[in-house]
Amino acid sequence: MQIIDGKATAAEIKKEIAAEVEQIVAQGGKRPHLAAILVGHDGGSETYVKNKVLACEACGFKSSLIRFEDTITEEELLAKVKELNEDDDVDGFIVQLPLPKHIAEQKVIEAIDYRKDVDGFHPINVGRMSIGLPCYISATPNGILTLLARYGIETRGKKCVILGRSNIVGKPMASLMMQKRYPGDATVTVCHSHSPKLKEECRQADIIIAAIGSPNFVTADMVKEGAVVIDVGTTRVPDATRKSGFRLCGDVKFDEVAPKCSFISPVPGGVGPMTICSLMKNTLSAGKKEFYK
Ligand code: GUN
Repeated sequence: MQIIDGKATAAEIKKEIAAEVEQIVAQGGKRPHLAAILVGHDGGSETYVKNKVLACEACGFKSSLIRFEDTITEEELLAKVKELNEDDDVDGFIVQLPLPKHIAEQKVIEAIDYRKDVDGFHPINVGRMSIGLPCYISATPNGILTLLARYGIETRGKKCVILGRSNIVGKPMASLMMQKRYPGDATVTVCHSHSPKLKEECRQADIIIAAIGSPNFVTADMVKEGAVVIDVGTTRVPDATRKSGFRLCGDVKFDEVAPKCSFISPVPGGVGPMTICSLMKNTLSAGKKEFYK
């Protein structure tokens, strides 16, 4: 059994990005610039955005953090999005989610110029991804693809079961695992709360990608000997022994599942560190105008 080390892989990739950025700058090119809009003071969002800014520094990117109180109106936020769309110095930007309830999230996402949508949430990027065209792929699915590729995990012709059908993980993951290239070419089954034979489906899977947000959901009896298990769960469970007051819990009962696996990604330290790294890869692509002129 091999543990998939997302933390080490993410660090390696950030180094590779930093080296490429220095080469671009040395040749007179522009340093990639990522902007992030953060509305309000949600603890999780504060941490994510702080880590994104730190990752930009590690990669040699320019970053801008634009903060608003949660009293900002939808019109004001849309005006800022328009300003960033039109700012030639900004290569890509994100609006950290969730947004306060009085703001229509989808409207904001669709207001972002898809050519700067490094989150890959705009319907144009989602659509282009689903038909295999060059585009920004959202962070979590892209991070998982990178891990599968870096660990040389075979996906062609394999049976892949995805637990969860969210717009940001389950659905894009299914689309990517069935795409006509590596990592992909898998036979994909998506299971969710209405799937009657979920356990049986899992037992037949060569690859399980668990993204349902239910701690310890995947147990040893659901996993075939030699399977690859990717844990996307990040539920915060109270833990008085931690300074933060919580710890992250995955969707997989790691201790009993791991011995049956050929590869398994842990929580924390598996998929999590890869997500910000994927955003950095998209920002580099944005800086290079790799997908869109
Ligand atoms: N909130 C949680 N994950 C994400 C993400 O990947 N991007 C944005 N914009 N907000 C998030």
